[in-house]
Amino acid sequence: MSQEEHNSVVVVGSTMIDLISYSSRVPQAGETIVGDSFQMTFGGKGANQAVMASILGSQVGFINCLGKDVYGDSYRENLEKYDIDLTYLSEGESPTGVATILVEPDGTNRIVIVPGANFELTPKAAREGVLNFAPRVVVGQLEVSIDATLEAFLAAKEIGATTILNPAPATGITALPDGLLETTDWLIPNENEFQALSNEVVSESSIFSFVSGKKFSLIVTLGEEGVIFADQNRGLVTYPASKVDAIDTTGAGDAFVGAFAHGLDQGLDPGAAIMLGLDRATDSVTRKGTQISYMAKND
Ligand code: RIB
Repeated sequence: MSQEEHNSVVVVGSTMIDLISYSSRVPQAGETIVGDSFQMTFGGKGANQAVMASILGSQVGFINCLGKDVYGDSYRENLEKYDIDLTYLSEGESPTGVATILVEPDGTNRIVIVPGANFELTPKAAREGVLNFAPRVVVGQLEVSIDATLEAFLAAKEIGATTILNPAPATGITALPDGLLETTDWLIPNENEFQALSNEVVSESSIFSFVSGKKFSLIVTLGEEGVIFADQNRGLVTYPASKVDAIDTTGAGDAFVGAFAHGLDQGLDPGAAIMLGLDRATDSVTRKGTQISYMAKND
């Protein structure tokens, strides 16, 4: 296989069947409410990011584990439609992951994931996939085991690939293993994830102290406020997002990460890759769903 034929972005990440309910508000404990609409779609942070990078034109390889069930079969067909290399998409014993998502009229969401087979992805399989795909960019999140992500990033560094870690979800995580941070080139948390990892709310000073002495560059995504970029050498830059009427913000962060990964793969400078990510994330919130909200701009 020549260098040009290699998958240029590899995502080590999750697949979820998204069960999304849209309602005027979210229920309180013990309460049942009547929703306005529902859709069952293909999601999972990793797969969302892979789909966005592929839509934009990167050759994408995907490393993950699906359940041996009807959800797993239809998920595989979905990823095939996007022309994503599934050589390292295996089958586990647990069910395919699912996400229950509640969306309110202002587009904000609440998500519960049950990862299932996603956590059957082994460090060995993650490593083998990265080494054989030999990409320029490797992307990870926290919906598969940290050990698998770490092994993928160690392999990425062995072949000189750029690594992007989206530390999501960060629930229950107060710090990332040193090995993972040492092999991360770009760390992209949202506000909540930044707070979980730094134990501080987002501010110029908390961002500066978080990146101080670190090798990675940081991008904190702030929803409609845009993103803040910071690293040790280049200081801090805020990139605002365009104003739009958001109807569903689910998967917007993934749109950003996938488009940013594509930008780096194409050799854009970080600022241009950030702008591309913002453009795609902003566009995605104007439509319902996750992956299905990414397409329209290219139609
Ligand atoms: O970031 C959005 C994604 O988070 C959804 O697609 C859902 O599956 C959860 O993983």
